[in-house]
Amino acid sequence: MSNHIPVLLDEAIKGLNIKQDGIYLDLTLGRGGHSKEIAKRLNKGKLIAIDQDEIAIKESQNNLKDYLDKIIIVRNNFKNIKSILNDLQIENVDGILIDLGVSSPQFDNPKRGFTYRFDGPLDMRMDQSQSLTAYDVVNKYSLQDLTKILKEYGDERYAYSIANGIVKYRKQKTIDTTLELVEVIKNSLPKKVLSNKGHPAKQSFQAIRIEVNDELNALKQTLDDCLSLLKKNGRLVVISFHSGEDKIVKTKFNQVSKIIGNRLDIPDNHKPLEFKLITRHPIIADEKEINLNPRSKSAKLRIIEKI
Ligand SMILES: C[S@@+](CC[C@H](N)C(=O)[O-])C[C@H]1O[C@@H](n2cnc3c(N)ncnc32)[C@H](O)[C@@H]1O
Repeated sequence: MSNHIPVLLDEAIKGLNIKQDGIYLDLTLGRGGHSKEIAKRLNKGKLIAIDQDEIAIKESQNNLKDYLDKIIIVRNNFKNIKSILNDLQIENVDGILIDLGVSSPQFDNPKRGFTYRFDGPLDMRMDQSQSLTAYDVVNKYSLQDLTKILKEYGDERYAYSIANGIVKYRKQKTIDTTLELVEVIKNSLPKKVLSNKGHPAKQSFQAIRIEVNDELNALKQTLDDCLSLLKKNGRLVVISFHSGEDKIVKTKFNQVSKIIGNRLDIPDNHKPLEFKLITRHPIIADEKEINLNPRSKSAKLRIIEKI
């Protein structure tokens, strides 16, 4: 079992401003690192912890064993948060945490197909019951769609060359495994890029994973629901790992907490703002945390509060 270290743990817990008798949501349970710290601080309160990954839920049990009486675990996509809470007859909550992306246990297991470091099937599904896999994206998507995904979700400079390399290769045979895809990517890149720092397939793998799990759409759909669920003084804390995710969070938080444009143009009957930004700039990991857990390097944490 790999060692899983929750990212920006203290900052996230402090950011939630936990009340002992409050109701909290952890929309991304993973191995339960953040959930455990929330549950520890509850007395009469409850934590509803959600993950779409069956394996993550199983693996979180041991970590959470002392607190299971305070936690309701639900296997579902967090985009269904409204109906999940409806079923539990919960109308609103005191705080919500979203720690986006893949967890280290998912990433480190070659059988899940998330990693370019070991050979495995081209899977990358967080939700094992979903039908779309990385195999389908790599072997069935058009040149245009592959280029768009690699560019938008991976910020890949050589998106077209890689997409073209994939499409040409699959005319001979399907791309079946992660390391076969790595080879196709490497062969599509100019030689000079291969000696650059960082793995040449990193951005493509990230992009394909985001597409397989429809990550950005799930986030967009869920933020509004989260904001509408918060009680007065309730907080939403989001940790993101990718510029596309952070942009979605930043834009939404600004939209609901700031008066955009000229203040003199605002009519007298203007509806007062319902949220205030707790973080003007995102909180990022310090050097000590980055050394301990390199994954935290790209993490950005933003907090907003209902007023
Ligand atoms: C970065 S990990 C969370 C780690 C967790 N905070 C911890 O301390 O162990 C993200 C988790 O969120 C889950 N996840 C990502 N997107 C999801 C979604 N749309 N619905 C439900 N779970 C999701 C993943 O399966 C993964 O287990």
